[in-house]
Amino acid sequence: MKKQLLFIICCILASKSYAQTIVSESEIGDAESAVAQTQIAIIPEPVSLMKKTGTFILPENISILAPKNEDLKQAIAFLSDRIEKATGKFVSSVTNANHPTIKFILNTQNDAQLGLEGYKLNVNPTQIVITANKPAGIFWGVQSLIQLFPADIESKEVVQNVKWKLPCVDVVDYPKLGWRGLMFDVARHFFTKQEVKQFIDDMVRYKFNLLHLHLTDDEGWRIEIKGLPKLTEVGAWSVKKTGTFGDFIPPTADEPRTYGGFYTQEDIKELVQYAQERFVNIMPEIDIPGHSLAVIASYPELSCTPEAVNYKVRSGEKIMDWSRGAPPTALVDNTLCPANEKVYVFLDSVITQVAKLFPFEYIHMGGDEAPHNFWEKNEQVKALMQREGLKTMPQVQAYFEKRLEQIVISKGKKFMGWDEILEGGVSPTASVMSWRGVKYGIDASKGKHNVVMSPTDFAYLDYMQADQITEPKVYASLRLNKAYQFNPIPAGADPKFIIGGQANLWTEQIFTFRQVQYMLWPRAFAISESVWSPIEKKNWTNFIARTEEHFKRLDFAEVKYAPAIYDPIFTVKRSADKQLMIELTPEIDGLDIYYSFDNSSPDRFYPKYTAALPVPKDASMLRVITYKGKTPVGRLISMPITDLQKRSR
Ligand code: ACM
Repeated sequence: MKKQLLFIICCILASKSYAQTIVSESEIGDAESAVAQTQIAIIPEPVSLMKKTGTFILPENISILAPKNEDLKQAIAFLSDRIEKATGKFVSSVTNANHPTIKFILNTQNDAQLGLEGYKLNVNPTQIVITANKPAGIFWGVQSLIQLFPADIESKEVVQNVKWKLPCVDVVDYPKLGWRGLMFDVARHFFTKQEVKQFIDDMVRYKFNLLHLHLTDDEGWRIEIKGLPKLTEVGAWSVKKTGTFGDFIPPTADEPRTYGGFYTQEDIKELVQYAQERFVNIMPEIDIPGHSLAVIASYPELSCTPEAVNYKVRSGEKIMDWSRGAPPTALVDNTLCPANEKVYVFLDSVITQVAKLFPFEYIHMGGDEAPHNFWEKNEQVKALMQREGLKTMPQVQAYFEKRLEQIVISKGKKFMGWDEILEGGVSPTASVMSWRGVKYGIDASKGKHNVVMSPTDFAYLDYMQADQITEPKVYASLRLNKAYQFNPIPAGADPKFIIGGQANLWTEQIFTFRQVQYMLWPRAFAISESVWSPIEKKNWTNFIARTEEHFKRLDFAEVKYAPAIYDPIFTVKRSADKQLMIELTPEIDGLDIYYSFDNSSPDRFYPKYTAALPVPKDASMLRVITYKGKTPVGRLISMPITDLQKRSR
C-alpha cells in the first residue's frame, strides 16, 4: 500500500504536475519519502507550484536579507513575528549577508508576468528566496511561505517538538484580479479599531487587498465628521439588545442608548495606515439615500418627513416591510430627502472629509434598498419631479445619485454604488457593485462601467452556512461548496470592466468578533481562491483537503471558523404513503453519519445513515453526528421532528 502511494507520488512528480499535493506523514512515513513529508496546502491556490526534491530545515538563527525599503518592513515583521513566536528561534533582519536564510529580492527589471502583486517563491534545501517587482508581491509571497510551514507556525506561543521543515518548491504566482475584497459592516454592530485591525490581519493571510468598510446604516453612523457632531453624539448609539435582530421589541424612551461607538478621524487615519502597511486599501461606504436612519435621527431636517423629529437610531426593531419584495416599504422614513438642498450641503461636508481621510480612489455611496414610499407622498419631491421632468421614483433616485457623484468627483474620487444605481438612468462614469446576482454586473460591464462582483448567491457571508438549527437565523443560506463556485468574471461580462470581486459580511445577526470570524472562515477561503487563482486551478476536492489543513492553522491561531462542512444537509420528503422521510447529505466526501431517534446522543456505534430515514411514529427528536473513521468531526445536531414536519409543508 505504501509502495503504491509512493509510486503514485513519483508519477505525479514525473508528469511535472504543478497541482498541490496533499499527503499525510502518517500515510507515507519519514523513511520512505524525502519529497512528500510535508503537506502543501496553500490558499489561494498559486498559479504554478512545482515540488522539488529535498526539504528546508529551519536553522537555529535565522536571517532575513532584504533591500532597504520602508514598504518591506511589514513583510519582514510578519514573517519574523510568526517564526519567533511559534518556534522560539531568533530572527535577524540584515542588509548584508553571505548566505541569509531567507532572501527578499525586488526586481530591478520589471517581470511583466508578476505585475504589481505577483511573486516567485523558491524554497531550496538551505535557502528561501522571494522575488517580486513590488513590496506587495513580497508580502503575498511571505503569506504563501508561512503556509508551507507546519501548521504549528500559527501558534501564539512556542511549540516544542516540531520539526520545522518545509518542502522544497518553486512557486510562481500572481492574482487574477487587482481588487480582492471583503466588506465588513461595522454599522449594524460596532466593532472596535482593534477588531478591525484583527480583521485586516486575518484577511491578508489569504491575500485579500481591499477592505470595504460599511460605515453607516440605520443602526449607526461610525465616523467622526467635524462640524456635524450629532452624527456621532446621537447617530452612533442605540439600545443594547440580544436575540434575533429584526424582531426586537421597540425600545422604550427610558432605555439607555449606550450601545455602539464610532471611529474618530485619528482612529481612521490609524486604520488606513495599518491597512496600507499590509497592502490593503480601505474603501469607505456612506450608505445613502436609504439605510439612513442614524443620520435622520441626528439631523431630522435632512428628511422629507416632519415626524422624523421623533426618530431614533434603530436598535434592531422592525422598520421595513419586505412582504411585497424590493424595494421595501418603509415603516419609518429612513431616507435622505432628494428634494432638499440642505442634504447636498450636508453631503458635501461629509464627502470632503471622507475623501481626505481615505486615500483609496473610490468612495462607495450605497444606493441600495432605498424605499420610495415616503417620497411618493411628499410635496417637495413632487415639485422636484415637475421641475426636473422626472416620471418615476427610480428616476428621482437617479437624480440624487448623479448629484452625489458630482460631489464625489469634485473631491477627486471615483463614485461607486450598489447595483440599484443602474435603475432610473445611471451616469456613464459610475462604478457598480453587483450584489443582486451577477446580471447587473454583466450588463454594467457591457455598458463600460467598472464593476465589482459581489453577488448574494456566492459571496454573501452573512447567510447561513449550515442548517438553521445550528446558526443564528438569516433568510438565506450559502454553503461552502456554493461559495467555491464564485466566478467573478462570468460568461457574458466584458472582462475589461470587471475590476474586482468581493464577499460581504453584513452584521445584523453578528454581535461579536468571534462570530465575525466564524462567518468568514472557511467561506472566505473559497472567495479568495475565486478572486486570486486561475479558474482552471480550482478543484473542490483538493480545496477541501487544503481547507482541512487550514482548520489546523486557524486552531493554532485561535481564529474561530465554522465546521459546517462536517454537518449533514437535512432534506425532508414525504413518501408515496405520506410518511415523513429524512435525507442526510454530507457536503464533503469521506464522512459517516450516525443517528438516533431515542433522544440519546449517537456515536459511531449507533446506526449509520445509508438511505433516507422514515421517522418512527412516536419519535420527537432526531440526533445526528458525523465521523471521519473513528473521529467525531461534526457537531451533535438535535433536530426536533416538529421542525422537520414544518419543513415538509
Ligand atoms: C445589500 O446587500 N443591500 C447591498
